[in-house]
Amino acid sequence: MSTQDGLKLVERDESGVDTAFRADILDGLSQDQKAAPARWLYDDAGSQLFEDITQLPEYYPTRAETDILSTRGEEFAAMIGAGRAVVEFGSGSSVKTPLLLSAIAPAAYVPLDISGDFLRAAAEELAGKFPGLPVYPVEADFMRMVELPSEVAAMPKLGFFPGSTIGNMVARTAVDLLRNMRETLGVGAKLLIGMDLIKDEDVLVAAYDDSAGVTAEFNYNLVRRINRELDGDIPLDALKHEARWNDDYARVEMHLNAQRDIDFTVSGRSFAMKAGESIHTENSHKFNRRTSNMLLLAAGWEPQARWLDSKNRFSLMLAEARPPRSAP
Ligand code: AVI
Repeated sequence: MSTQDGLKLVERDESGVDTAFRADILDGLSQDQKAAPARWLYDDAGSQLFEDITQLPEYYPTRAETDILSTRGEEFAAMIGAGRAVVEFGSGSSVKTPLLLSAIAPAAYVPLDISGDFLRAAAEELAGKFPGLPVYPVEADFMRMVELPSEVAAMPKLGFFPGSTIGNMVARTAVDLLRNMRETLGVGAKLLIGMDLIKDEDVLVAAYDDSAGVTAEFNYNLVRRINRELDGDIPLDALKHEARWNDDYARVEMHLNAQRDIDFTVSGRSFAMKAGESIHTENSHKFNRRTSNMLLLAAGWEPQARWLDSKNRFSLMLAEARPPRSAP
């Protein structure tokens, strides 16, 4: 297991508070439109709630992407070819990753994740399923360029970024990440990336506001986390989960709407919300063929293939890092 040179992955102050978490939350709550970066939704409870979301009848993306991965293996093999080192951005899903690996006969598997615990567990599970496959887990923040293990340096690479996690980033951050992936993987690499599709607003909103209230709990869990870890007293009973389609930005937004005027403190700082104001907690961008091509091209990735599930809800895009060339 390696860590990025000199990079401390989580910094805590003397009372054990994650300093980046505190800075992000205090900054976000100080804005006119209050906001919290979506990555803080994923503490242990939040990660478990997200797993539960993936099983919900209304939340189609996980099933749709798994459908593509389980039915298009021969086409992946033809387009990607055998013998690549598969570099997965995130520690891997016990269902999706094996489907890809069995389809394309890779030479090695390199899961990258910021959480060493998830990484070790996922790498062990995978190694058990593919006994002959060398697995080189790397503990790193994949939002930056990552140095890959020397064992895979000479192998052709395939980046794998399923789940439409790219959709949780605003365009500027998504392009930065895709550029860094290109740096990490090198010219000649391919990238297989999941991107959820624009569709009927009712279907999209229901996927992020399910009838069992699991996504609402996922959103409320952030407030519980702030109150617990940052000594906050945000009155959770005054906040209501909302999933909102923003058509200009082609994204579903999660908000916590204040049902009445409230005052609260977080880490000793005072905040107020009027009834009707919200804390914006997540974006989930949706794409069509042109916008997903454009996003990839903006970061130096040439789109090569696109697969949809049988109900045309979700896309897997294959792109290649070609050397830059003169063009008009
Ligand atoms: C992780 N990510 C791709 C999920 C999504 O669909 O944007 C997170 C999520 N948020 C609410 N439901 C699921």
